[in-house]
Amino acid sequence: MIKTKLTEMLGIKHPIIQAPMGPFYTTKLAAAVTNAGALGIVSHTNLFGKDPVKEMEENVKWVAENSEGPFGVNIRVARLQIDAPELIKLVIRLRKENPELRERLKVVITSAGNPRPPATEFKAHDPELIHFHVAPTLYHALKVDSLCDGIIATGYEGGGHQSYEGVNTSVLVPEVVEKCKKPVVACGGFFNGRGLAAALAMGAVGIQMGTRFIATRECEFHQNYKEFIVRSKDSDTVVTQGMLGPIRLLKNKYTEEHKEILTKEEKIELEQKLDLEKLIEDQKKYELVYQGEVERGPVLCGESCGGVNDIPTVKEIIERTVKEAEEILRGIGKLVV
Ligand SMILES: Cc1cc2nc3c(=O)[nH]c(=O)nc-3n(C[C@H](O)[C@H](O)[C@H](O)COP(=O)(O)O)c2cc1C
Repeated sequence: MIKTKLTEMLGIKHPIIQAPMGPFYTTKLAAAVTNAGALGIVSHTNLFGKDPVKEMEENVKWVAENSEGPFGVNIRVARLQIDAPELIKLVIRLRKENPELRERLKVVITSAGNPRPPATEFKAHDPELIHFHVAPTLYHALKVDSLCDGIIATGYEGGGHQSYEGVNTSVLVPEVVEKCKKPVVACGGFFNGRGLAAALAMGAVGIQMGTRFIATRECEFHQNYKEFIVRSKDSDTVVTQGMLGPIRLLKNKYTEEHKEILTKEEKIELEQKLDLEKLIEDQKKYELVYQGEVERGPVLCGESCGGVNDIPTVKEIIERTVKEAEEILRGIGKLVV
């Protein structure tokens, strides 16, 4: 067993968080991760024209009924994310109304925007809720440090949306650990026990993994998505333009046709126009991918796909990651003479 500030703070067995992976569903995945002793996260979904607030409530209840142990949810709080305030209220309401959820829905991870509005709401209405926010640079981490209970330091090699600054995990994590006071979870590029041991050596309290957890039996992503990850090499991803900024995807026909990356200023200008038709068209591409059409839309994936070579159960992933990290940490102590 590996005990850290994270396992203690969240009451989980292993210092591993399953990364949020909206707009796709990670409901079954979250239940499996929680049942295996790590922290499952219900994603912020918005596919097939469904109401994200209603879906979040259903998904949270499903995980509660189908697992034992603590879990969390993700709320993306980017400027474009008009449903974020409602989702924040929903989490507060669910925890207030339902004693089981107050006990088990322990964490909210906010991302892709300003942590101040959610932090203010949570402090005022539910101070016991644990609030982490994703930080892609030291500058962002210092802000999170003053507002939230923990920092998810996420480097550029990770899957999905990335910052314009593009700082990599091996630089980001140690500098954030040194300069911030709150617990730091390392994220971006982790897929095995070597990574977990390295993150702990860098001073992190645990890791958050996305890509690795997609290629598991319980994950509800399409089999084509899982197999695409398994057959891809570390060099098979590319960063291109996403809805909220740069995004790391697997190379396919879609990325061949979408090579352009906007500057931050151009992106803000586009957001101000709120081109709804373009947004709906983008959303449909995510739906195609979720249904298994992995050449025709954005297949979000980290460079860690290079180290993902099988599709085992969630439990197997978590147990072998922890076991490998334990062996490495024991062995590495012997280097000091
Ligand atoms: C399919 C996919 C969807 C993602 N969606 C979200 C999201 O909705 N919210 C979020 O905070 N991060 C999202 N991310 C980023 C992950 O939470 C995490 O930072 C990333 O997966 C870490 O890198 P790794 O894939 O190498 O583990 C997504 C990543 C992937 C692969």
